[in-house]
Amino acid sequence: MNRPVLEGLRLNVPAYVHHAQLIDWVARMAALTEAKEVYWCDGSTAEYDRLCAQLVAAGTFKKLNPELRPNSYLACSSPSDVARVEDRTFICSAKQEDAGPTNNWMAPEQMRALLQTGQADGTPALFKGSMRGRTMYVVPFSMGPLGSPIAHIGVELSDSAYVAVNMQIMTRMGRKVLDVLGTDGHFVPCIHTVGAPLEAGHKDVAWPCNDTKYIVHYPETQEIWSYGSGYGGNALLGKKCFALRIASTMGREQGWLAEHMLILGVTSPEGKKHHVAAAFPSACGKTNFAMLIPPAGLAGWKVTTIGDDIAWIKPNADGRLYAINPEAGYFGVAPGTNDKTNFNCMASLKRDVIFTNVALTDDGDVWWEGMTEQAPAHLIDWQGKDWTPALAKETGAKAAHPNSRFTVAAANNPALDPEWDNPAGVAIDAFIFGGRRSTTVPLVTEARNWVEGVYMAATMGSETTAAMAGGNGAVRRDPFAMLPFIGYNMSDYFQHWLDIGAKLTASGAKLPKIYCVNWFRKGDDGQFVWPGYGENMRVLQWMMERVAGTAGGVENAFGTTPSYSDLNWTGLDFSRAQYDTVTGFDRDAWKAELGLHEALFQQLAHHLPAEILANKASFEKRLAA
Ligand code: GTP
Ligand code: SPV
Ligand code: MN
Repeated sequence: MNRPVLEGLRLNVPAYVHHAQLIDWVARMAALTEAKEVYWCDGSTAEYDRLCAQLVAAGTFKKLNPELRPNSYLACSSPSDVARVEDRTFICSAKQEDAGPTNNWMAPEQMRALLQTGQADGTPALFKGSMRGRTMYVVPFSMGPLGSPIAHIGVELSDSAYVAVNMQIMTRMGRKVLDVLGTDGHFVPCIHTVGAPLEAGHKDVAWPCNDTKYIVHYPETQEIWSYGSGYGGNALLGKKCFALRIASTMGREQGWLAEHMLILGVTSPEGKKHHVAAAFPSACGKTNFAMLIPPAGLAGWKVTTIGDDIAWIKPNADGRLYAINPEAGYFGVAPGTNDKTNFNCMASLKRDVIFTNVALTDDGDVWWEGMTEQAPAHLIDWQGKDWTPALAKETGAKAAHPNSRFTVAAANNPALDPEWDNPAGVAIDAFIFGGRRSTTVPLVTEARNWVEGVYMAATMGSETTAAMAGGNGAVRRDPFAMLPFIGYNMSDYFQHWLDIGAKLTASGAKLPKIYCVNWFRKGDDGQFVWPGYGENMRVLQWMMERVAGTAGGVENAFGTTPSYSDLNWTGLDFSRAQYDTVTGFDRDAWKAELGLHEALFQQLAHHLPAEILANKASFEKRLAA
């Protein structure tokens, strides 16, 4: 096999790599970025340990106290690089209408000139020389169990060792992937640079990045180009870029779904198991719901985790929808996580964790807001400054960044479902959609049919969170919790969901039920009324009883909501009055809400399915009656 050597640069292609097209691409990208050297990740533990040690030496990682948090590290990013950058994220389809009105778009030639080839006026391409002085890591990864018919392979080239070690936890990564890829297997090329070339003799910074950022997707050629950020979904390209934006376009063509959903198994006291997939926007409770522990009063119910963020869902020959979790780890929100809210998560985090942007305790462990009721007397905050509870009271300074996160392998989760790695996936019985809404939207509503469920999902609103740069709590429409993650035209995506429902109906299959939930209604005192977390099991129990056809409910203009007596209240003191606050259906509030639906539909008018508008019309009629 021809193993190219660039002038002054060894490609270091391991003997086990036999994919000519991959080697050629790596050679071209190394030449473009002028990387100092190329390193192929094999995915071994020895490699992980070596890269972590290197990150410690570089000052990117701090090794935590091995007695308190074995085999774990803390990374603190640049304050300018702390979350996904939605305004810098682009879908570069050939035609703008294929990206649709909810995505940033630029013509592919124009974007390629900017990133790759250089501009007409002589401005060099951003990727030209962007890895100078740095190692380019070749990270082969599989989204989904290796060799599963639902899985797909990607290769990320990155000049960040932080990315390489995070990808090792988050995906099935390394040599085994190249073995599956063989000589000519299909892979999605993903290239990432922090955009901070290191000139000879210069000292590196702990978190290199660039104020200019581009997170770019070419759906037609299935390529991902990411420039300038080292953080989360901007840089770990298997996650949002591949498993949602690119995969959603693959799913549209091939008849499946790529969704921002957790997947859980729920087993009743009688031992009957169901599977549920739930879409909540970023930082709205997916990881928590996926690891839920039922409260004492509901003992006998059990929840097990299949995935906490992304689901790939395919119709099977039996007419049902089967879901896999394409990831192998969790990149989860730290603040608010504690032994009471998410015991399983805390147990997962006992060892083998990479923490990003949380606070450091004096004895070399981590802390974040909400981890314990009482904060430690002194901390080093995520920006490296001294922090005390008194200072926080005075200035409001947070010890951990609100979007601080942990990276941990799924294998660490004590509630991991035995089927989580099953290449065939699990059959979905119910879909849940839920936003973060202080008002208007009831605790839980069941859609009367598939189209009504699609309507609920399509019109979902949510208050923005710290998971996106600039998130400030303002309500925005976030259809299917996919607004930042859809790789094509949103109206076409609604149509795709309707088409899947029609196809399943035609096959005579029983469709999954669809629910809309809201854990976040607030009272006049500004506090959450619903206790949430483990208590969400009460809502889940009602849903499973509805699936079985045994529970009651009351219809309103929006759908079917349980009355107080339809929920199991064993072990919880939650009054009828409180229940009315979280389930109340305020006609005037809903009339205003429908105005927001109308505004969304005006934005999405091109290709908007007629069934969606017909559903709105009947909703309005019911509301007026
Ligand atoms: P991404 O990883 O960004 O996609 O987030 P996620 O949807 O997995 O959200 P996660 O479960 O990490 O929760 C985000 C925040 O919401 C945390 O601070 C949680 O403590 C809080 N939260 C989760 N579930 C509930 C709930 O039922 N009630 C309330 N009040 N807060 C919750
Ligand atoms: C989200 O924002 O929905 C996340 C975190 O899951 S990130 O991977 O950064 O997108
Ligand atoms: Mn997410």
